[in-house]
Amino acid sequence: MGTGTVKHRRSVLVVRPGNPLRGEVGEGGQAGLPGDKSLSHRAALLAAMADGESQVENLLVAGVTLPLLDGLAALGVPWSLEGNCLRVQGRSLEWEAPITAEEAVHINCGNSATTLRLLAGALAAWNRHVVLDGSAGLRRRPMKRIVAPLQQMGVDIQATDGCAPLHIRPSLHPLRALDYTLPVASAQVKSCLLLAALAADGPTTLHEPGPSRDHTERMLRSMGASVESFGGSGASSASLAGVRQWSVRIEPVHALTPLRLVLPGDISAATFLIVAALITPGSEVLLRGVGLNQTRTGVLDALAQMGADLEITPQGDRHGEPVGDIRARHSALGGAQVGGDLVVRMIDEFPAFAVAAAYSRERTVVLGAEELRHKESDRISDLCQELRKLGVRITETADGFVVDGSGDLEGGVVQSHGDHRLAMALGVAGLAARSEVRVEGAEMVTESFPAFESVLQGLGGEVQAEAL
Ligand code: S3P
Repeated sequence: MGTGTVKHRRSVLVVRPGNPLRGEVGEGGQAGLPGDKSLSHRAALLAAMADGESQVENLLVAGVTLPLLDGLAALGVPWSLEGNCLRVQGRSLEWEAPITAEEAVHINCGNSATTLRLLAGALAAWNRHVVLDGSAGLRRRPMKRIVAPLQQMGVDIQATDGCAPLHIRPSLHPLRALDYTLPVASAQVKSCLLLAALAADGPTTLHEPGPSRDHTERMLRSMGASVESFGGSGASSASLAGVRQWSVRIEPVHALTPLRLVLPGDISAATFLIVAALITPGSEVLLRGVGLNQTRTGVLDALAQMGADLEITPQGDRHGEPVGDIRARHSALGGAQVGGDLVVRMIDEFPAFAVAAAYSRERTVVLGAEELRHKESDRISDLCQELRKLGVRITETADGFVVDGSGDLEGGVVQSHGDHRLAMALGVAGLAARSEVRVEGAEMVTESFPAFESVLQGLGGEVQAEAL
């Protein structure tokens, strides 16, 4: 137990164009797709809240999940990790931090907003003072969106100028049930409130302006909680097309059944490999065991709009989450229009998607995506700035960007802005550029895809991380 603080040793990712990418990528390990990031967070946290021992296989063990595991240890939850298999002794919704002389329990959430926002919900009804904090980057992320509704539930929670550190102090018991409309579609906010609602005095109903990922709902349901989704989410086969309202209603619970899960591969990590294959001549890659929850697969729809050669083979359900294989081949890409619900269903995929758009020969327009400014970097402004360095004709707008694809990119030196997804997307851009691309700040890749370099190498890519 105990992972130690995540330290990043600065590195540059050097990507040389040339080789086609060919081969198959399985799940986990040094040459595989990592376990899903969102599911890993939820599985670890909900296992800690369950009544007994849980086992979670194919967990993402990386920069974004280690702070959560350390946080659970600080909260007195015993767990062990063998490779990617996590075992947790659940505390039955009762957090019992080891009693020390210290007044408050401090949890460092690193760069992970998911860790911070989900822990805030899980600890909302706790009878100790807890401080949730993180890196300088995390301290810039907006927290009013969870603080305001938690305060409506009666939680004594204070932010610092709307951001972390957050202080949560013992408050009334049980919490007040809520009927609340989220101002932005956000699975982190929704999940925070769902976890707090487990300790409320009645059913809580949340309404969202878009279909944010519904992993928390599915996992809680599998643990015996009563969670009803209205709209497209909830059933693996349900279609999101034409759905106009997204709401979820949850009842308080007294106990949660432990988990036994094998997590699917991360569709967001898979997207980098898919785009790599689409833009690199002669490529064909097969990705196995990828999570295909419709609230996450918007990028596949957007790439299909561009004429991407993608073959998706469903392989059934894993504990309520659809899984399948994705084959991607090099394609002559066209343009796309992305807005509305599709933005929500591909919210993490815009850096990789913009690279695909840059290699197309047409115009791609992204709008209604203002939320991208509040991610690990400003994924509108920083993304545009870096792609321009590679000769991409990309124009920033208030709520998105416009790419005029030329089918061709130059080499160059670019920066990650401390953002793992920007680092990987820019690295992928180098696979088909006219000359070498060097991504500075590439150490951030280990936040969510530690095997990124070796997986690309295994497919034939000329990719090398150089320590500084
Ligand atoms: C996540 C939700 C998304 C996403 C993030 C992970 C989650 O954030 O960008 O990488 O696991 O719930 P928002 O809910 O803030 O959109």
